[in-house]
Amino acid sequence: MVVKMFNIAILGFGIVGKGVYEVLKENGDRINAALGNNNKDASINIKYILDRLEFKGHPLADRVTQDYAMILADKTVSVVVETMGGASPAFEFSKAALEAKKSVVTSNKEVVDKHGDVLIEIAARNGVSYMYEASVGGGIPIIHPLQNCFLANKIIKIAGILNGTTNFILTKMSEEKMPLEEALSIAKAKGYAEANPHADIAGLDSARKICILAGIAFGRYLPFNRITVIEGISAVTAEDFEAADKLGYTIKLLAVAELVGNRAKLLVAPHLVKKGSLIAAVNDVYNAIVVTGSAVGEVVFYGQGAGSLPTASAVVTDVLEILKSHPKAISRAALEDGFLLPSNAFGDKTATLSNGSVYRLY
Ligand code: HSE
Repeated sequence: MVVKMFNIAILGFGIVGKGVYEVLKENGDRINAALGNNNKDASINIKYILDRLEFKGHPLADRVTQDYAMILADKTVSVVVETMGGASPAFEFSKAALEAKKSVVTSNKEVVDKHGDVLIEIAARNGVSYMYEASVGGGIPIIHPLQNCFLANKIIKIAGILNGTTNFILTKMSEEKMPLEEALSIAKAKGYAEANPHADIAGLDSARKICILAGIAFGRYLPFNRITVIEGISAVTAEDFEAADKLGYTIKLLAVAELVGNRAKLLVAPHLVKKGSLIAAVNDVYNAIVVTGSAVGEVVFYGQGAGSLPTASAVVTDVLEILKSHPKAISRAALEDGFLLPSNAFGDKTATLSNGSVYRLY
């Protein structure tokens, strides 16, 4: 069987770009299955990496180039992954790729917030795609669900925690009494923070993300610089946490987009959140997004909102969506081939309650 090789280029080999390489390497067979191949070797090939650095010693060091014109001219490259960060030149590079009839997949919130509408239109004109699932919520699928799964609803409200770095910091401040700066340096080391973490701390990153989501939900171009209330976490103190705790609250940085009649309220600010509530339990780098639809009511999306592999998961899934030619078939073989473990091999721990009831422990 001939394995079809799809060539991609990665623009920006930082935390997310390297994560894309890792995900492709680790999940090659699963990725091939999604593409309809059975070969063990990954059939998505990173042909080029555009970066200023050389990455000497990295297995893909020979793919690194600074020549974007060469990538654009290479007709065998069908998808460009833009994980550069920053609005420019990421916007210009994405535009050029789409005009060269290459689909673009991005994790870049700044570009999507500022120019997403233009790039989507250029993509459509050129018969290719501009995909940005990774731009909001890291590994959480939220863009696709918003675009596809609420069509029977009017989306009334989207609210939640959209920045992993600040949620990590607030969690450390609350649970370990750690100062903001110290928690930020850990978040940086873990690859959660922006190149300039001011965007995280000041709430700008959350603002971009809520605008991207609200833009889809409300069918409008909503750039973040039109939001009137963007408050970050720099004013939140250890004393605030103590005082909030006495009232039964914790503090979370929330982004909110809500329809009020035929107008929209958008804001980013630290909020008091009732302890014991779902949002109060969202800690560390995790994000949670509550979408309220007119028919479905509240639906919650939860997962890791930042970091190399979770974000790369969303990027690679977008790449696969572009490249896959037909939906993966569900095989009935699993019923016969020993795939299902017998219950005596589950190994679940149980606990017996005082009344004799036995439960599995979760
Ligand atoms: N700095 C961002 C965050 C990265 O912490 O959420 C993911 O968009």
